[in-house]
Amino acid sequence: MDFPTKLNSLLARFEASLDSLVPALPATPAGPARIHAAMRHSLQAGGKRIRPLLALAAAGLGARTPEESFQLVASALPAAVALECIHTYSLIHDDLPCMDDDDLRRGRPTCHRAFDEATALLAGDALLTEAFVILATSYAGRSDIAAALVRVVADAASGLRLVGGQMQDLMAERRPGPGGLASTASAADLDFIHLNKTAAMLEASLMCGGLVGGLAPAELDTLRHAGRELGLAFQIVDDVLDATTDTATLGKTAGKDARAGKATYVSIHGITTAGRLAAERTEAALALLRSLPGDTAFLLELAGGMLVRRK
Ligand code: FPP
Ligand code: MG
Repeated sequence: MDFPTKLNSLLARFEASLDSLVPALPATPAGPARIHAAMRHSLQAGGKRIRPLLALAAAGLGARTPEESFQLVASALPAAVALECIHTYSLIHDDLPCMDDDDLRRGRPTCHRAFDEATALLAGDALLTEAFVILATSYAGRSDIAAALVRVVADAASGLRLVGGQMQDLMAERRPGPGGLASTASAADLDFIHLNKTAAMLEASLMCGGLVGGLAPAELDTLRHAGRELGLAFQIVDDVLDATTDTATLGKTAGKDARAGKATYVSIHGITTAGRLAAERTEAALALLRSLPGDTAFLLELAGGMLVRRK
C-alpha cells in the first residue's frame, strides 16, 4: 500500500473509532448534551491527528503480515483516541482567556468562543478524564497492557511533563527583557518547555503504539528517544509556521507568538537556524526509527513529513 492510501485508511479508521468511543450527544434531553457537544466541537474540528497516527504506525511495527498489521492497528485505536482526547483538552485550555486567549483553533471558533469559558473548561476536564475511561475500558481484558498504557499516558500528561511545560511557558512569557516586554527565556529554557509541553505527548504516542505492538523494552526506549527528537522538531516547525504562514492555512491565529513577546525557536535562533535545527532533530529521529524491527517505511515517511508540513 502506498503512503497516501495507508494514511487515509488509518485516518478513516481513527475517525470512526473516535466517533464510537467518545460519548455521543444524548438522543434524549435527559443529560447535559452541552458538555458532549463542546467536547466534540473541538475533537472533530479536523486536527492533523499526528499523535494518533504515530501511535497506529508504531503499533504496526510489531506485525509480520498485513493481517497482523490490521489487527495491531485495531488494538491500538483506543489508545490513539485517548491520546487525541488529551491533546485536544490541552488545546482547549491553552486557548482560554487565562492562557493564550485565542479565538480560532483547527479552523473553528475556540471552544470557549463557540460555547463559554466554563463549558470549555469542563470540556477539557472531561476529555482528560475520558482518555483514562477509554484506556481502562478498552484494554480491560489485557491488564498488563492497560496498566502500561495508563502509566505512559499519565506520565506524559502530568505536572512533570505536559502541564509542567505549559506552566513554564506561561512563566517565561512577557518578562521585561532588553528589548522591552519580551521573554527572557534562554535556548535551554525553551528546550525544557517544549520537551515537556510538546515532546512528551509525541513520545507517549509512539510508546503506546509500541506497547500495543508488543515491542521489547529496548525498542520502546528507542521509540521514546525518537519521540523526544520528533517533538522538538515538531515545535520548531510550529514556531516557523507561526511566523511565516497565514491564519487561514494554519486554522489558528498566525503571528501570535511574536505579538505576545514569547520566546520561540524563531525569536531565539532566527528562521534559518530554526529550520536547520528542525532538520537535524528530524534526522536524529529517523535514524532511531530506522533501527527498529518490522516494516518502518510508513512511520519513517510520516515522521519525515512532519518537517515539511504546511500547517
Ligand atoms: C499543536 O499541535 C500543538 C502543539 C505544538 C503543542 C502545544 C502544547 C500545548 C498548547 C500545551 C497546553 C497544555 C495545557 C496543560 C493547557 P498540532 O499542530 O498537532 O495541532 P492539531 O492537532 O490541531 O493539528
Ligand atoms: Mg499556547
